[in-house]
Amino acid sequence: MGSSGASFAPGLEGVVAVRTRISGVDGGAGVLTLAGYSVEEISGHASFEEMVYLLWRDGLPDAEELAAFRGALAERRELPGATLDLLRTAAARKVPAMDALRVAADTLSLDAPEDPALDLVARTPTIVAAYHRLLRGEEPVAPDPGLGHAANYLYMLRDERPGGGSVRALETYLNTVSDHGMNASTFAARVIVATRSDPVSAIVGAIGALKGPLHGGAPGPALDVVFEIGAAENAEPVLRERLRRGERLMGFGHRIYRVRDPRADVLAAAAERLFTTDGDRDLYDLALQVEKTALRLLEEHRPGRNLQTNVEFYTALLLHGLGLPTDLFTPTFAVGRVAGWTAHCLEQQAEDRLIRPQSEYVGATGRSWRPPGER
Ligand code: COA
Repeated sequence: MGSSGASFAPGLEGVVAVRTRISGVDGGAGVLTLAGYSVEEISGHASFEEMVYLLWRDGLPDAEELAAFRGALAERRELPGATLDLLRTAAARKVPAMDALRVAADTLSLDAPEDPALDLVARTPTIVAAYHRLLRGEEPVAPDPGLGHAANYLYMLRDERPGGGSVRALETYLNTVSDHGMNASTFAARVIVATRSDPVSAIVGAIGALKGPLHGGAPGPALDVVFEIGAAENAEPVLRERLRRGERLMGFGHRIYRVRDPRADVLAAAAERLFTTDGDRDLYDLALQVEKTALRLLEEHRPGRNLQTNVEFYTALLLHGLGLPTDLFTPTFAVGRVAGWTAHCLEQQAEDRLIRPQSEYVGATGRSWRPPGER
């Protein structure tokens, strides 16, 4: 108990700080609801533009509304010159992609945006794709307003129009990760905007939070482990050794889910479709073996804790199947999650209530000041 009588909840676990209509996570039942739809229902059907509209406005657009919204987003994709200059400087210094995204997102307030949420959603993929190319010594590909949001992202990355299967797989991924309750980055965004600060500041903070390996930084390492294992018979010794060294297995465990993360199943199905039609099916099968072994070893490691597969494990496989290198995994997560971040900014602005928890002081008391020579 703190001096005010409030109880201490380490990591805020179990504390409900926000009421939201954007998404609900039932960690005991393994259910994720996105503005009224289960993740299984909506992710594989909606385009990303529909998903953003749904999260922002609590309802799907009709055909006319959707066309207008798609057009408004497509119109805002181009980056200001100052943003591109900054990305060039960052690429020359080989700054990691998430840091480049963070500093570039910050520049979106330079031209005093009329609708910052729209700019942030429209331009996040342009920043990520432009930086990806600049890092490789290639010129950015200008966005194509004739393509949908997800198709255009792949186009800007590859300089080649993507096929329908890839676009559907990417949209399923972006929709699946578009929002997820009061996760760390969304909470960071809401705390910032709750001070009546602006959405660009909030999303810059959210990107900083997403970068950490306990949040959005896990899929790259999760895939690296699958590659290191290489063949099913190596799964057990490699994973056992990692656990023995006290390492966490990336792609497993979750603060909220005590059963399997429903997003893992949606992405596993999408990955299976992708790998069966045009991918490395052997890699997919190996990943299934790795998952099975990891779950068995985690049960031995923390019996009864029910550490299960989380979203990052199949994210890694799906994005790899789309030809994205691991350094694009977390930035691509941001391309999807910016839908939820901005929706939460809009909801928090309407709520207009400062978020300000308390702390419990556990330091010394009654110290007397002495000059440096007497310490
Ligand atoms: N591998 C090995 N051990 C794990 C583990 C994992 N992936 N996840 C949790 N554990 C262990 C913890 O170390 C802890 O052990 P301890 O009691 O000896 O300290 C125990 O299981 C309970 O952890 P829990 O309370 O469930 O974790 P958390 O709520 O603090 O953390 C995560 C949740 C997601 C940060 C954690 O599971 C993790 O680090 N996973 C790997 C990273 C990852 O995939 N992140 C993406 C999340 S979507």
